[in-house]
Amino acid sequence: MVIFGGIQFRDEKKGDLLDIIHCIRNNTKFMLVNTIIWHYKNGMSAQRYFANRHEEEIWLVKSDNYYFDLDSVRVPYSEEELQLALKDKRLNPENTKKGKNPTNVWEIARLNGNSKERVGHPTQKPLKIIDTFVKSLSYPGAIVLDFFAGSGTTGRVCAEEKRHCLLCDSSSTTLDYFEKHMANITDKNLAKYKRIDEVDNFFNIISKEENNQITPISYLTF
Ligand SMILES: C[S@@+](CC[C@H](N)C(=O)[O-])C[C@H]1O[C@@H](n2cnc3c(N)ncnc32)[C@H](O)[C@@H]1O
Repeated sequence: MVIFGGIQFRDEKKGDLLDIIHCIRNNTKFMLVNTIIWHYKNGMSAQRYFANRHEEEIWLVKSDNYYFDLDSVRVPYSEEELQLALKDKRLNPENTKKGKNPTNVWEIARLNGNSKERVGHPTQKPLKIIDTFVKSLSYPGAIVLDFFAGSGTTGRVCAEEKRHCLLCDSSSTTLDYFEKHMANITDKNLAKYKRIDEVDNFFNIISKEENNQITPISYLTF
């Protein structure tokens, strides 16, 4: 499970990631594997405090037997770095050749108004962040749930990466953004998807889909 958040307790009425961590620690068996720092260089300026340049996400698991595909998200070394890393006796050369661990600090620019990925949702996340989570924490054919789907960036990534996806959001206006996301997928053959409006149908289709040629995506709003 991944939760996006931030740490801001100036406003007592609004919760933040610290509240969520406290609640999870005291009421569930979930364990924290990583806190990921999403660092961006572009952002609002500030005069009365240090301008914010990061957000946090937490990755939690229910048991030690969790899925993690590091190889799918390794970062390639430059040729110079690779030669140095291959001489480092502490590193396994086979793994080194596959690339670097991206670490828990990800430098990814926030989407600005001109960004090609932008579909208009005010808090739309960059594809790269969602893509890194989807690839490393799920496998092709897995079911990914996003309870706070917004524009449905997770749905787009899942369609491209061949994961089934259940999206939901309390606002029905988000469906328009989702349609834009799906229209922006460049290689239509890579992402054949079918929009399913009933959860029961979604699971029926997955259980019957033998060769997984089409990725079912369900987006529910309420
Ligand atoms: C930060 S946005 C998600 C952005 C998304 N990751 C994207 O890339 O577009 C959070 C979404 O959660 C939805 N939301 C807020 N409270 C909710 C609730 N209680 N149940 C379901 N959705 C909710 C909002 O309508 C909003 O679209």
